[in-house]
Amino acid sequence: MSNKTFADNFLRGHSAIVTGGGSGIGKGIVDAYLEHGCNVAIVGRKKDRLDATAAELMRKHNNGTLCVAVQADVRDYKLLSEAFDNAAKQIGRITILVNGAAGNFLAPITGLSSNAFKTVMDIDTVGTFNASKLAHEKWFKENGGNIINLSANLHMTAQVLQVHAGAAKAAIDAMTGHMAVEWGGENIRVNSICIGPIDETEGFSRLLPPNLIEDMRQNIPLLRFGKIQDIANMCLYLSSPASSYVTGAIIKVDGGSTFTSGCS
Ligand code: HXC
Repeated sequence: MSNKTFADNFLRGHSAIVTGGGSGIGKGIVDAYLEHGCNVAIVGRKKDRLDATAAELMRKHNNGTLCVAVQADVRDYKLLSEAFDNAAKQIGRITILVNGAAGNFLAPITGLSSNAFKTVMDIDTVGTFNASKLAHEKWFKENGGNIINLSANLHMTAQVLQVHAGAAKAAIDAMTGHMAVEWGGENIRVNSICIGPIDETEGFSRLLPPNLIEDMRQNIPLLRFGKIQDIANMCLYLSSPASSYVTGAIIKVDGGSTFTSGCS
C-alpha cells in the first residue's frame, strides 16, 4: 500500500494505538500511519498475529517509525489499561486512538443466544468505551487527542442476520457524539467512520454470500467495492490538521452504498 496524497511525514511526533490492528482494515490503517511517520502500537487478542504484523510492517517502513504489538482483550479494562501503559512506554505518549477491534458473524435473531448478542456488544461497544476512557484518563485529558471509531452502515440499512453488529455499531456512533460533546473543551476530537463493503477483508469474505457479490457491486453508486486504503485515507484525514474543525461526525465511507443497498 502506498499513498502520496498526504505529505510523507505529516504525522511525525505522533503515536497511535490501533485496536484490532493485526489484520484487515486495522492493519491497513497501521500501515498508512507508519508510512506517514506515526509510531503505532497494535492491540489485539492474538499474540502470534500481532507479532507477525508488527514485524512485517517494521520491515516495510524503514523510516524510523516504531510499530509494536501489545496483547490485550478490549473487554478486560484492567488488562487493557496495562497494555496501554506498556504501549506508551515503547512508542511514547499516545495522541491518536483508533477503535477497530470488532467481532462479527452472520446469525438470525432466532439463532442468537443472549450471550452471543452480548459478546459482540462487549467487544465492539464496551471495547470502544474502555479504550476511549483509558486514553482520555492517561493522555488526552491533559494534552488533547484524537479518537477514531470504526463503525459500519449496518444499522442505517437494517440488514438481516446482523442485529448484534448493527446494534453495537449504532451504539458506537451514539458514543462518538457524546464523547465529542463532553471532551471537546479538552481539545479532543471524536469521529466515526461508517464503513461500507470493503474488498479483501475478513468481513467481506465471511459475511457476504459469493453469489450476491456482483449484483451488490452494480448497486453501489460508485460501481466498485471499497479498498482498505479508502478507510486508511479517512483515518489520515481525521488525524490531520485538515480536519481540525471536525468532531462528532459520523462519516460514511461506502461509495454511496448506504443509499442504495436493498434497491435492485
Ligand atoms: C450464532 C454464535 C456464532 C455464530 C459465536 N456465537 N459464533 N452464535 N452464530 N456464528 C456465540 C457462541 O455460541 C457464544 O454464545 C457466544 O457467541 C460467544 O462465542 P465465543 O466463541 O465464546 O466468543 P469469543 O471467543 O469471544 O469470540 C467472539 C466472536 C468470534 C465474535 C464470537 O466470532 C470472533 O472472535 N471473531 C473474530 C473477530 C471477528 O469476527 N472479526 C471480523 C470482524 S468484521 P453461547 O450462548 O453459546 O455461549 C466486522 C465488520 C462489521 O466486524 C461490518 C460488516 C459489514
